[in-house]
Amino acid sequence: MSDLPVMLDKVSVRAGAVSILDGIDLLIAPGAPTLVVGPNGSGKSTLLRVCMGLTQPSEGAITWGGRPDVKPTRRAFLFQRPVMLRRSAAANVAYGLRQAGSKRADIHGRVVALLERVGLGDLAQRPARKLSGGEQQRLALARALARDPDLLLLDEPTANLDPAATRAVEEILRSAAASGIKIVMASHDLGQVRRLAGDVVFLVRGQLREQGAAEGFLNSPQTPEAAAFVRGDLVI
Ligand SMILES: Nc1ncnc2c1ncn2[C@@H]1O[C@H](COP(=O)(O)OP(=O)(O)OP(=O)(O)O)[C@@H](O)[C@H]1O
Ligand SMILES: [Mg+2]
Repeated sequence: MSDLPVMLDKVSVRAGAVSILDGIDLLIAPGAPTLVVGPNGSGKSTLLRVCMGLTQPSEGAITWGGRPDVKPTRRAFLFQRPVMLRRSAAANVAYGLRQAGSKRADIHGRVVALLERVGLGDLAQRPARKLSGGEQQRLALARALARDPDLLLLDEPTANLDPAATRAVEEILRSAAASGIKIVMASHDLGQVRRLAGDVVFLVRGQLREQGAAEGFLNSPQTPEAAAFVRGDLVI
């Protein structure tokens, strides 16, 4: 059973009188990565949380693979700052595998394979919280991949990383996408959009202002706000 496509039908999220997301219609289907961009406070994190089922719409509806369930089955979420158990890197991945229902006998082999997949094979026994920020984010990716997701949602996973660590994470995401995992990722970084995105979702003040191929968004944005954002001078 797949969680794809994810379909949002006029989804709004409100906190009291404040509108955080406003009437979002969005279809997330298999394919190249979708990058969610927009200024600070435009609703990127909230949109990702809705797509994971962590935040309920105040209005509108969301379905995963046609089902209105909110229990994550084939989707995983990565936060800007990874949350690690106070145990080894390997134990963190093993935890993810147990949560995903892996058989005991398979766990050791899968831990090794997942750590290799994110380039942490040599650091399996290191305490996870002693790893660098970039290594922790790669470990968080291994733990997310342990769920065998068909949808991976990421909220600015490289915001605290230097360029080399950012590229390492992007490389893992590229190969995850090539293996058929749908990536949906919030980002502030237009270079990252250029490097990774198949398409772009552009939010301003909780509204979806533009959506389409990354190349079109970057080279010929359709709205004045998107043009200003791409130039780097959108002031809200
Ligand atoms: N639970 C909440 N209660 C009230 N306001 C909220 C709540 N969650 C988010 N907001 C507000 O909604 C707006 C959108 O927040 P969100 O975190 O989704 O934006 P964002 O695009 O991810 O921003 P950033 O680029 O800073 O990460 C912000 O103005 C935020 O303060
Ligand atoms: Mg955010």
